[in-house]
Amino acid sequence: MHEELALLALSSFVPPPCLLRLLSFVIFMETTTSSSNGESVLRDEIQDLVAGFPSAKNWDGTPLYFYKGVWYPVSGIRGALSFQQHFIARDTDIILASMPKSGTTWLKALAFSVVNRNIYSPTESPLLTTPPHDLVRFFEMDLYSKNQLPDLEQLPSPRIFSSHTHYESLPPSIRGSSCKIVYICRNPLDQLVSYFHFARKFKRENVKPLTSIDEGFDNICRGIQSYGPFWESVLGYWKASLERPDKVLFLKYEDLKEDITFNLKKLAEFLGLPFSEKEEKEGVIQEIAELCSFDNLKDLEVNRTGFFKSAGAPNSTFFRKAKVGDWCNDLSPSMAERFLKIVEEKLAGSGLSFKVSE
Ligand code: A3P
Repeated sequence: MHEELALLALSSFVPPPCLLRLLSFVIFMETTTSSSNGESVLRDEIQDLVAGFPSAKNWDGTPLYFYKGVWYPVSGIRGALSFQQHFIARDTDIILASMPKSGTTWLKALAFSVVNRNIYSPTESPLLTTPPHDLVRFFEMDLYSKNQLPDLEQLPSPRIFSSHTHYESLPPSIRGSSCKIVYICRNPLDQLVSYFHFARKFKRENVKPLTSIDEGFDNICRGIQSYGPFWESVLGYWKASLERPDKVLFLKYEDLKEDITFNLKKLAEFLGLPFSEKEEKEGVIQEIAELCSFDNLKDLEVNRTGFFKSAGAPNSTFFRKAKVGDWCNDLSPSMAERFLKIVEEKLAGSGLSFKVSE
């Protein structure tokens, strides 16, 4: 299948836009080199550099490295440094940013569907056969960790990428260009609990499996978690969204759960692709909401099976419960109170607050 597509590209045949898009994607996927997740990605000169960074233990037992105010997981540090140094943004790029376990997968599906709605109808959407993380790829633990200089030039505009990097650490060309950034955040208690369950699924050689949420909780309270501190990530994008509302859209997971139609319209408008009256009447917004809904995506064969190599996790681990307030099943009231108090103190005066229950 891939060979046939590559041959088509070399012939004089002029493919229609949808095939062109697919061709670029397939060829791009095949020119990047693959590597496994975990310590093995720490190679060559990065290894020496990282040796000088403060380090701590992540919830899944692997190391975290502290660099310029951010705790990077071992699977992301090499890619993050390379991304920050080398990525050149186009004005038409769309960057989806988040803390892990904040609704990144959902946002990827929504943004991909909004941007490509004139190319693929919901019944033909690549989301039905491809995991969202393969359609919108991470800079740190995917593109730039597999290849220090991935060739992203051949991707057609608008390119959509994803990042867990904090706003202040984004490459200058992202902050300096007219590209758009959409940040999704989630209340800190559900984000924490979602990460705990995610980390529990990892079985790594020589690493004791995580059994209790108490393990590592003190670290989380000190901001030591993958791409943490939590408050630094959300505050950076929150302030940027207030200063540059045309550049940074700040979304909350809980708001999307409450009113997906309103938030899909907001997203489409922000991306410069508002839904027309005709589309609204024809129910295009509802179709996208349904296609990207938790119940729909989690039951698709492609998301129930298969493995997301870059994160070292089965695709199914990105779909768990998707509930607002689920933290109360894992955190004791005193733990929740302690963590919320810390976050509230850190966010004091920013005007940013979170809904922690339904
Ligand atoms: P839970 O662990 O609370 O269920 P991320 O995509 O950033 O890794 O976040 C994963 C969280 O988002 C998980 O939360 C997952 O269930 C939830 N999620 C995944 N897809 C979703 C969707 N389409 N709609 C709502 N929530 C979704």
